Amino acid sequence: MKVNRIYVGDCIEILNSKIGQESVNLIFADPPYNLSKNGLKWEGNKTGGDWYMMNEVWDKMSAPEYMQFIRKWIGGCYRVLKDNGSIYISCTYHNLSEVMIVLKQLDFKSNNVITWQKTNAMPNMTKRVFTHSTEFVVWGVKGKKWVFNYEELKKINPDKQKNGSLKQMRDVWALPLVQGKERLRGSNRRALHPTQKPEEMLKRIIIASSNKGDLVLDPFLGSGTTAVIAKRLGRKWIGIEKNQSYIEAAQKRIDKENGSD
Ligand SMILES: C[S@@+](CC[C@H](N)C(=O)[O-])C[C@H]1O[C@@H](n2cnc3c(N)ncnc32)[C@H](O)[C@@H]1O
Repeated sequence: MKVNRIYVGDCIEILNSKIGQESVNLIFADPPYNLSKNGLKWEGNKTGGDWYMMNEVWDKMSAPEYMQFIRKWIGGCYRVLKDNGSIYISCTYHNLSEVMIVLKQLDFKSNNVITWQKTNAMPNMTKRVFTHSTEFVVWGVKGKKWVFNYEELKKINPDKQKNGSLKQMRDVWALPLVQGKERLRGSNRRALHPTQKPEEMLKRIIIASSNKGDLVLDPFLGSGTTAVIAKRLGRKWIGIEKNQSYIEAAQKRIDKENGSD
């Protein structure tokens, strides 16, 4: 098994054939949320942001197909995760319940459901429900002696006590959707990947649940955020992605990052 590289193809197949059993310390997974069915067209929106309606082929499944898909890829993650390893799964309210059920079925313990409060959430176009401004990251562990770098997290927590001293990291993270220099863009200036995750989110997760030299895997690598931050923080990494143009963008981004691999 080679590390510090992107495996090209379907993550279920690769997790079950190319990645060593019990070889990975930490998994971050940002799977398809199965949201791309809505007929609303929102291209060319003038709201000033980098947001647009998800309409991706990799994100369209029936409900039973989606449940099976979750079982298969989380099952593959269980196989490759070391005892006491952690998995963090990014979710919205659409797929949170399915993910939690599958974690329970596979005997993961759920330690936290972190709420990502998007400080620049997109406006609600239908005006029929509260404006969605959160996503979730479920933290599951295999075994009882998981890594949690409590003191390191306090050091990077931007919130401080009233007297300026360090504060425990809470489970609500107020972070903007990726914009500005951090956002990868194509030649048309549009966001290169529709769901690029904030680097700060990956920094907190990787610091919380891995140590230098550990192996971090992302089965849905997309634009490469997990690999870039793992490299920056001196961790080994493996990414899996099936879309060739995202792979190229991610590889370029990773190559630009100075790190210890
Ligand atoms: C939600 S995005 C991940 C975005 C990523 N966290 C980032 O910061 O850019 C999901 C990615 O998984 C890929 N994908 C979907 N199904 C896949 C599968 N079965 N195997 C591998 N990659 C898959 C998609 O092409 C997409 O880039």
